[in-house]
Amino acid sequence: MSREAFFTLHSDLPREGPGEAADVAWAVAKAGTAPGSRVCDAAGGPGADLAALADAVPGARLTAFDLHEGFVAAAAARGTGARVLRGRLIAGGGDRLPDPVALGPFDLIWCAGAMYFEGIAACLRAWAPALAPGGAVAFTEPAWFTDDPSPAAAAMWAEYPAMTDPAGIDDRVRAAGFETVATRALGDAAWESYYTPLDARIAALRPGADADLARVLDAAETEAATWRAHRDAFGYLLSVVRAA
Ligand SMILES: C[S@@+](CC[C@H](N)C(=O)[O-])C[C@H]1O[C@@H](n2cnc3c(N)ncnc32)[C@H](O)[C@@H]1O
Repeated sequence: MSREAFFTLHSDLPREGPGEAADVAWAVAKAGTAPGSRVCDAAGGPGADLAALADAVPGARLTAFDLHEGFVAAAAARGTGARVLRGRLIAGGGDRLPDPVALGPFDLIWCAGAMYFEGIAACLRAWAPALAPGGAVAFTEPAWFTDDPSPAAAAMWAEYPAMTDPAGIDDRVRAAGFETVATRALGDAAWESYYTPLDARIAALRPGADADLARVLDAAETEAATWRAHRDAFGYLLSVVRAA
């Protein structure tokens, strides 16, 4: 899959993974994040959760970062008043982009569907110094809800062999010196808020797509169809955690 074709599909989408405002509000309540708190949207993509974070934490001082320049521009264009910039989940790489430790401290780090790029334990260990006393991390992570996924569901996640179940996510949280405060699975509305606009964009791009783009569109269509057919077998688990 070429990078160019990937971003042809993944430009101008409202969000880059499942999520909805109700989950943000739930996580903020479980974390006990007070009005006026410092909140980070880590790897926030095009800024889908910024308005929900601002609503859930009145007077929040919001920072959002992402590695991809196009998403940073889209997040900044939302006009939420957040500080939006390019940054990395974890320090490293030759470009010396900032990470949560350089940007913090924060009372809440929110990270929707991105910790798997570096791993839950690696992110939490790296972010511990970025948290203000009593601060929390809320993150969503793909999870198996069955021990025996269908071949289609297994194929969808073949590129993420470290994917585990809710107990395995909790193990990783504890291995990083954190404890889980609360968890819940994202609901169907969270998934449709990602796949419904993606369906429309696939349909708009399909006429005239070259072979490279057609492969990307096919893969995205298969992914959405697999979720709709096998949604009981896997999902995203939202976890609110804090240092133990
Ligand atoms: C599945 S998307 C989720 C984006 C957003 N949180 C949402 O729910 O719409 C994952 C995001 O992680 C970003 N990303 C991947 N690796 C990263 C890294 N090492 N540092 C910062 N952002 C990264 C990608 O650019 C992408 O925007």
